[in-house]
This record gives sequence, structure tokens and C-alpha cells, in this order.
Amino acid sequence: MGSLWHKPFHYANNACKFEGIVGHDDIKQIFVKAIGSKKPVHLLLLGQPASAKTMFLTEIMRSFKQSLFVVGSNTTKAGLVNQLFERRPKFVLIDELEKMNNTDQTSLLHLMETGIISETKINKSRQMQLASWVFATANSSQKIMEPLLSRFLLIKMPEYTFEEFREIAVSRLKEENVDDFVARVIAHKVWKELASRDVRDVVKVARLAGSIEEIPFVVKMLNKQHRIGGN
Ligand SMILES: Nc1ncnc2c1ncn2[C@@H]1O[C@H](COP(=O)(O)OP(=O)(O)OP(=O)(O)O)[C@@H](O)[C@H]1O
Ligand SMILES: [Mg+2]
Repeated sequence: MGSLWHKPFHYANNACKFEGIVGHDDIKQIFVKAIGSKKPVHLLLLGQPASAKTMFLTEIMRSFKQSLFVVGSNTTKAGLVNQLFERRPKFVLIDELEKMNNTDQTSLLHLMETGIISETKINKSRQMQLASWVFATANSSQKIMEPLLSRFLLIKMPEYTFEEFREIAVSRLKEENVDDFVARVIAHKVWKELASRDVRDVVKVARLAGSIEEIPFVVKMLNKQHRIGGN
């Protein structure tokens, strides 16, 4: 066995504790292990909107300078391969991988498979060895190439319990200067009356309701719109 097992577990891992993320303790542990691993481990977070997928990537980006953050729908403009050549990131963070075009998905596949990135242009070609850990997110795996998927450890984001949802709402609404009590009232109404598990709805209600008295009215209106919208 390699020396990996003899190292104290937190040796390489103090740098990113994901403190801004409420709950998801198992997933935090997996990331800590993957980040501390000697050889690349690739993780793909799959799940519902507002389940903290992007947060995991931004926390890593903040903690490690050697990371490259890209949004799947946007990679071609900047040129994924080009960015890999220029930045030589240890961590490649890809938000919304399912929106990445096939050309970039193929480049990524080669990187994950061989640790090599290459580019061929009309009169010159270049190639480079790069050991990168790829951490990505997606709402679903449907548009992701099968061979690419198989190189990831797939992690399904579990749904929040009400207690977690309320805690997230309280922490998120602090940024909006909403006090804890009001945040809990809003979280309760959004969860029960809107049957929503999306913390962004909590923020919408908080912004629309100017006072605690207006919360029931705003929730009622959103509920009506929700039904008219049919989703
Ligand atoms: N576990 C959590 N801890 C703290 N805040 C959270 C958590 N989950 C969701 N949030 C809040 O919800 C917002 C949305 O989270 P995030 O953008 O990471 O979701 P996502 O899973 O990437 O969603 P999408 O699929 O729509 O991109 C965050 O900005 C944060 O305010
Ligand atoms: Mg996201």
C-alpha cells in the first residue's frame, strides 16, 4: 500500500472546510478525502436546484489558488483547452457540466483518462501532461457523455430535512438583514405552504414582504402564481 494511508488524515485538508455550507457532512468528507488524495479523484455532484452544488465549487475555488472555475455553458468562448494550457490548474471546477458542448466534454475526458491535454490547430499542435482533479456539478446526468460519467464518482445531493432547510434559510437571510425569528417564519411557510425545497424562494418572500405582517399575503400570492404556472 502507498504511503497515503500513513499520513494523518487532515494533513492536506485544513485548507477547505466548507464552513459556509450547512449540513451535507458526508459530502464534505468525500471532498476532503478527494482533495487530500495523492492521485486525482473526480467528483460529480448531481441534484436539485439550490442544493449547494455550486457552493462546493466556489468554496474550493476560494481555498485553492490552483483552481480553474468554469461554467459548462460558457467554456467554448474562453476555450477550455486554452485555459487548461495557460492556468495548469490542479482543480478543474465545472459548474453545470451537462451544458458543456461535446468538444469540451471530449477534451475533459482525455484529461481525466490520460492526464494529457492536447490541441491541434492548422499549422501547430501542442500537448501537455496535467494532473488535475475534476469537480463538477449537474442537475441531471442526461446530457453528459457516458464515458465521461464513468470517470466520475457520482454523488447525489440528498434532500434537506426541514430543520436543515430552516437553518439554511436563517443563515441566508442574515445576508438580507432579516432576523432569525422572521427567517424561521418564512422558512416554515415556504416549506409547508409553497411545498418548496428551494432556499431561493425564501429569499424571494423575504424581499417581497416588507414586514412580518406581509409574509402570509406574499406567500399566498406566490402560491397562486405557482399554480397558474403549473409547476
Ligand atoms: N447547504 C447549504 N448551506 C448554505 N446555504 C445553502 C445550502 N444549500 C443552499 N444554500 C443557499 O442556496 C443558494 C443556492 O445554492 P447553490 O447555488 O449552491 O445551488 P445549486 O445546487 O448549485 O443550484 P442550481 O442547480 O440551481 O445551480 C446558495 O447561494 C445558498 O444561499
Ligand atoms: Mg448551481
